[in-house]
Amino acid sequence: FDTTNRDKFRPVYHHTPLYGWMNDANGLVYKDGEYHLYFQYNPYGSVWGNMHWGHSVSKDLVHWEHLDPAIARDTLGHIFSGSAVVDTKNSAGYGENTMVAFYTSASDKNGQIQCMAYSTDNGRTYTKYENNPILTPFDGLKDFRDPKVFWYEPDQKWVMVVSADKEMRFYSSRNLKDWEFMSGFGEGYGVQPSQFECPDFIQLPVDGDKNRMKWALIVNINPGCMFGGSATQYFIGDFDGKEFKCDTKPEVTKWLDYGKDHYATVCFSNTGERTIAVPWMSNWQYANILPTKQYRSANSLPRELSLYTKDGEIYMAADAVKETEALRKDEHEVGSLVVNGESRLEELVPNTDGAYELSMDITPGASQLAGFELLNGKGEKVNIYLDMKENRLVMDRTESGITDLGEPSKFNVHEKETDNHRMKLSVNYKNDFALGTWAPLSLCEGKTYHLNVFVDKCSIEIFVDGGRIAMTNLVFPNEPYDTLRFYSEGGEMKVSDFTVYKLGL
Ligand code: FRU
Repeated sequence: FDTTNRDKFRPVYHHTPLYGWMNDANGLVYKDGEYHLYFQYNPYGSVWGNMHWGHSVSKDLVHWEHLDPAIARDTLGHIFSGSAVVDTKNSAGYGENTMVAFYTSASDKNGQIQCMAYSTDNGRTYTKYENNPILTPFDGLKDFRDPKVFWYEPDQKWVMVVSADKEMRFYSSRNLKDWEFMSGFGEGYGVQPSQFECPDFIQLPVDGDKNRMKWALIVNINPGCMFGGSATQYFIGDFDGKEFKCDTKPEVTKWLDYGKDHYATVCFSNTGERTIAVPWMSNWQYANILPTKQYRSANSLPRELSLYTKDGEIYMAADAVKETEALRKDEHEVGSLVVNGESRLEELVPNTDGAYELSMDITPGASQLAGFELLNGKGEKVNIYLDMKENRLVMDRTESGITDLGEPSKFNVHEKETDNHRMKLSVNYKNDFALGTWAPLSLCEGKTYHLNVFVDKCSIEIFVDGGRIAMTNLVFPNEPYDTLRFYSEGGEMKVSDFTVYKLGL
């Protein structure tokens, strides 16, 4: 294929396939200095279908090298999502440090069954296990997929978490091939009803204290997003090697990201004490009809996950990995300003290609609304603000550019959702794309909020106070936003330490 870029919305610094369709990140694993990003991939076109595992590698989580698809669709069906491990103990018998991948084979004939493949050439090519599948649902469940495998040190065994309709099922194994059911978790937990997909299960210190470790179960759900479509929730609790016990009541829902375009988030294995997640930056409501052609979908910036406490509750922060700082090519220090009414910074990012980062502290003070708009010459804008009355961070993309995507195609999961899942903002519900999203500011500490806002050709990622709030939304402006208008209502707001970075690879 000719892979010269033909899409004006192709991101500058986010990972995309050169050609074809991409959804979930799969088989994330670090080995010998390389981060492997496999992904749900259709090599034949830019809509969902013919699922393979596409493959890119990176040494720094910033620059990605595109490689050939690693696992191709076969007679058992599509190659759906899954995970990969480095078999340091040679449990599977293919040699020490072999890479072993777990995925779901999906077809109408065989249903959804878990399979295994191994690689002895550092993840470039995989050999499928001759006795696949390694796991089928004991109750004939239709939705049974996305195996996440990890080593459980205390019991010297492997554990697999599989999404099984509205719960996650836990299995264990000594040899990575024979799996025994241990327990299920999730029925009745979180937003209901929702289909569980793409689990991850990680152990993290609370507030950085290694003597206080907690388990976090990442559960991607579709539908169930507060703003419609797909979203990522998580549960904090304990794991005894067999069963996960959640700390909170079933009705408590915690979100890993408060945007509309953050899904199927899972983490790298074999990264030592770091936990690094990679989301798919889209939403099943409209992923297949977004205005790109040569390719569809990008990953968001990789995110460092950590746990913090707020008002006695444990939450997960998701911040852009520190490696992202390597993208900063040019720096423009604006400094501080006091805004009473409005303050317009014309062509703040002159001649921009649409790729930059804003870093600032906002102190809303006495104002009720404190925020800014990013605008372009066509009158298109994104509105990002702190609503102090509602105690919310809001991003409104209703006038951000192309928002009317037309009719959803047959590929789209377009479910009717009840209004109480929707946010209560006076925005346009004409179609599922044109919406704003909000997050509770109660997750943050104080009176000043630190914002890092990453803008690329067609996306905006907002991180507040080191990822206590993450919010990811797509936007399709007809030209890049180059002007910024700060505004406050009902009082004075202060902006300090404001720096604009031009970003590039
Ligand atoms: C999540 C998902 C997975 C499945 C894959 C298929 O986005 O539905 O559950 O394995 O996509 O492409």
